[in-house]
Amino acid sequence: MLVAVTGGCGFIGSNFIRHVLKERPAWHIVNVDALTYAGNFGNLADIPKSPRYQFLKGDIGDLKFVSSLSKRLDRKLDAIVNFAAESHVDRSVLGPGAFVRTNITGTFNLLEVARQAPGIRFLQISTDEVYGSLGDTGKFAETTPLAPSSPYSASKASADLLVHAYYHTFGVDAVITRCSNNYGPYQFPEKLIPLMILNARSGKELPVYGTGRNVRDWIHVEDHCRGIVAALERGKSGEIYNFGGNSERANIGIVEHIAERVSGTRTLIRFVKDRPGHDWRYAMDADKAALELGWEPDIAFDEGIDRTIEWYLANEVWWRPILTGEYQRFYEQWYGGR
Ligand code: NAD
Ligand code: DAU
Repeated sequence: MLVAVTGGCGFIGSNFIRHVLKERPAWHIVNVDALTYAGNFGNLADIPKSPRYQFLKGDIGDLKFVSSLSKRLDRKLDAIVNFAAESHVDRSVLGPGAFVRTNITGTFNLLEVARQAPGIRFLQISTDEVYGSLGDTGKFAETTPLAPSSPYSASKASADLLVHAYYHTFGVDAVITRCSNNYGPYQFPEKLIPLMILNARSGKELPVYGTGRNVRDWIHVEDHCRGIVAALERGKSGEIYNFGGNSERANIGIVEHIAERVSGTRTLIRFVKDRPGHDWRYAMDADKAALELGWEPDIAFDEGIDRTIEWYLANEVWWRPILTGEYQRFYEQWYGGR
């Protein structure tokens, strides 16, 4: 089985590759990544050299490159797992164009590969954000209408619609998974949890948007990766599967926990101007994945968050080089005036 993993040098993609190389000894992986600011070879530095793993640098937004993919491989592709994306909501406020190119055109290009070579299973890694925002009650089900509110989530919803259309019109063997907020090792420190850990460690302010009462449903990245394997192996073609962590938390509670654990004080917390269009709450109903895939999250948030804090504190060699150049420019541009 040869699986093309796009975006395998990012946070979830790299965790997925590590998981598969360990848990599925018969699978071979080709990691296709453009190495944007979020793609990092350091995310896979610990995987042993293996004939089961190869890397191909390439941009899924480039149709010429994507069309040549099959020719560059020495065996037939069995599956494409599409993680590659611009993934940060705040960056989609600063510059939506890259989101349209990678998340929509890039998915379209990959679907064309699957259309032209029948027999490839296409797994689209999507997000709970395509459903929009919840009030204080209720959960998203797979049947909840799409109502994305940021350029990021709109681009992901558009990609999901294309995937569905390619299944429906061309018979592409496609499955969509939609997951809630991931956390764990190798997450780029622009996202809430690693940003707060690293700021607290260096005595920098901890910028909490708005009231800090917005709620996310957190899932450990290892649980998500197990779910993706289950969807690839047992997901029904044309279906959507929600994954969630059953761990709803208000942002402020998480930031207070990190602040106390890392710096021993809450005094670094600062409430700043809200994210424009900030979704209030996400919560996932993942019963279908439990029923049809036999998947459930395993790692309790209270345990997973402390393991994650320890990982960041112990892995300065991984994050130190990231906190330079491009990251500083983004940080200044986004947080400078808040
Ligand atoms: P990430 O930003 O950490 O990694 C994205 C990866 O994609 C990087 O390696 C980057 O180099 C690569 N990439 C970007 N543009 C590319 C292009 N044009 N061609 C090839 N590679 C390109 O993202 P992540 O947090 O690991 O998210 C992975 C996927 O999971 C995304 O599709 C995202 O929408 C989805 N998702 C993320 C979460 C989350 O909480 N992080 C939750 C649900 C779904
Ligand atoms: O829900 C799944 C989504 O989760 C994924 O599809 C996205 O790729 C991923 O980035 C994530 O999106 P969020 O916007 O929910 O994650 P982020 O870590 O950016 O923010 C989490 C919450 O914390 C959100 O309510 C905004 C808030 N926040 C974030 C940052 C970076 C702050 O209060 N301060 C911050 O500095």
